[in-house]
Amino acid sequence: MNHFEYIDDELHCEDVAVKDIAGQVGTPFYLYSKATLGRHFQVFDGSFSVPHITCFATKSCSNIAILNLFASLGGGADIVSGGELFRALKAGMDPKKIVYSGVGKGRDELKYGLESGILMFNVESEQELDALQEVAAGLGVKAPVSFRVNPDVDPKTHAYISTGLAKNKFGVPIAEALEVYKRAMAMANIEVVGVSCHIGSQLIDVSPFVESLAKVKNFIQRLQGAGCAITYLDLGGGLGITYDDEEPPAPLDYARALEEELGDLGCTLILEPGRVIVGNAGILVTKVLYTKQGGKKFTIVDAGMNDLARPSLYDAYHAILPVEERGQGRELGDVVGPICETGDFLARDKQVPVSKQDDLLAVMSAGAYGFTMSSNYNTRPRVAEVLVDGTKFHVIRQRETLEMMIAGEMIPEK
Ligand code: LLP
Repeated sequence: MNHFEYIDDELHCEDVAVKDIAGQVGTPFYLYSKATLGRHFQVFDGSFSVPHITCFATKSCSNIAILNLFASLGGGADIVSGGELFRALKAGMDPKKIVYSGVGKGRDELKYGLESGILMFNVESEQELDALQEVAAGLGVKAPVSFRVNPDVDPKTHAYISTGLAKNKFGVPIAEALEVYKRAMAMANIEVVGVSCHIGSQLIDVSPFVESLAKVKNFIQRLQGAGCAITYLDLGGGLGITYDDEEPPAPLDYARALEEELGDLGCTLILEPGRVIVGNAGILVTKVLYTKQGGKKFTIVDAGMNDLARPSLYDAYHAILPVEERGQGRELGDVVGPICETGDFLARDKQVPVSKQDDLLAVMSAGAYGFTMSSNYNTRPRVAEVLVDGTKFHVIRQRETLEMMIAGEMIPEK
């Protein structure tokens, strides 16, 4: 459920007409509904009855206003860089609810995490473990560690976002993990606290989650047998959403299936949902610049692949709706951006709204991995982000200016 609806043929976000925001903020911009964000967070978090922490996957939507909202609802953060740690702390996240994942954490990032007192590092290799031991020793502290184990389970999703197969770069192979845990337990500045795993994103079936949990559970029992107490079991994120006609499990069904498999392990669960919380809570609003009939119909809009990379990168589908419904109907064609690449499209060979110059279009389900994956390619300023709260809207990130884009650049003296 989300709060993007037509009222008198005008698309609204909660009680605000999208057209009115465009009039004041300009286009393109990302638009989020606070009520939807809050509801999705609470439905997800409230679906679990065992002790747990919902650590929102910061990479999916990292604006500090949105992180702050989740913090106020009791959430934590899953981070994958020092930059995301900085954001999470600025947003008011409790460091004791921050978990740090990722295959390539630098020493400076490990140090920052230790100094910030985060809940745990999801370590992905033995070399990273050695680096963490060294950095923790330098600071005279103990680093809380969980290893990300790779369970070799097929998540049946897009190849680029599958992470839990043996051929993927992530984690420590589960068959070798016991030895790694034993090594870690003997290290002076490492405190083993958990086991983690994340098998992929946009999963629309619960069975790969259950299959990987079964393997991880078995592994935890072996660990416990070897005298290693495990406090946290981090199951990652990955629950999918409806972009088109997918039918992913509801959060409650996902939670029930996991809790049933979990049984009585005695660990606090950590969940790292991203997309399921923010995906359908945000849209990208863009304006039609031109239309033309080439080999097919092209609607050229002011947002491109630098603003929303998902269609170009994963051939992902995002529904495109008119902001004003005038009975204009739909036609087969492409909605494309201004970037100088053929791969720059928001919709390709799809039924898209018949549009004319200056019409506004809404690219739906763009809240997750939308703004966060945007770039300055073609020296295009990154767009504004706006949060609607009932009858009000707030600009939560100003549109970049031309000056901001070149602020760090300099011409060497001759
Ligand atoms: N935890 C870890 C360790 C992850 O790597 C990810 C996502 C998540 C949690 C959150 O997964 P989610 O609940 O959002 O599925 N850019 C791609 C998605 C990349 C996902 C990367 N990892 C896309 O636009 O589809």
